[in-house]
Amino acid sequence: MNLQAIRGTATGIIQQAAAEVMLHYDRPREEQTKSSVYDIVTEGDKATERLIVAALREAFPDHGIYGEEGGGINTENAEYCWYIDPIDGTSNFASRIPFFSISMALADRDLNPLVGVVINPISRALFSAAVGHGATRNGVPIQVSQTGKLENAILCSGFPYVVETKKRINVDTFMAFLPQVRDLGRFGSAALELSYVAWGRLDGYWELRLNPWDCMAGILLVREAGGRVTDYSGGEAGLDGSQIVASNGLLHEEMLRVINENG
Ligand code: IPD
Ligand code: CA
Ligand code: CA
Repeated sequence: MNLQAIRGTATGIIQQAAAEVMLHYDRPREEQTKSSVYDIVTEGDKATERLIVAALREAFPDHGIYGEEGGGINTENAEYCWYIDPIDGTSNFASRIPFFSISMALADRDLNPLVGVVINPISRALFSAAVGHGATRNGVPIQVSQTGKLENAILCSGFPYVVETKKRINVDTFMAFLPQVRDLGRFGSAALELSYVAWGRLDGYWELRLNPWDCMAGILLVREAGGRVTDYSGGEAGLDGSQIVASNGLLHEEMLRVINENG
């Protein structure tokens, strides 16, 4: 399997998808709700996913596709599947806050990411990685930060909404980190936040209850940039997004300690 060739094809597709997203950015838009009043989808999400799915089916007819807005295509039998999020950070997109992304990742059946691409359609910054080939931003190699102490770190997270309890979670963990770090962010696009960890701008990120399309590309970017990604117990295999801790590696054990003492 030529992962670098697949990475190149995925890069071309995500750049087309970014142009599609921008056609919708300044237009009046209709939002629809999905699982909850806070979970929204716009025509921009749907049109962008349609474009990506059509392009992937043409380029890789044997691969399966999991798209956030469309469910699965050929996912039962395929050895390799794409996980695509046509707009990660739809709340920001719908409010015209320029921090959202498109995320595409190819993974094997055991959820090992092989190729990942993430783009910010506003700035056109494009992050990409292939396993064993490193991570880049706009073609330039990137590496995680060298921050070794929490007190010097900028971390980032999110607050999942649990439909059954009608509550946001992760607040206690966020509060536990707050006095121990330089600063904490919540920017609203998991794929882009993970890209920022890979780029060495953020030192670490954690979240729970994500889906593979949110984080699969970002997991690979962080790993290929020299960082570490695990679940809350420190395990590195088969990450599906239900628990994710990503860091520059140096901060990882400290992050796991804070999360597990306060989760
Ligand atoms: C969301 C974003 C957000 C994260 C949520 C995700 P969406 O994705 O990644 O940062 O906190 O859990 O659902 O819904 O905008 O594609
Ligand atoms: Ca998402
Ligand atoms: Ca989305």
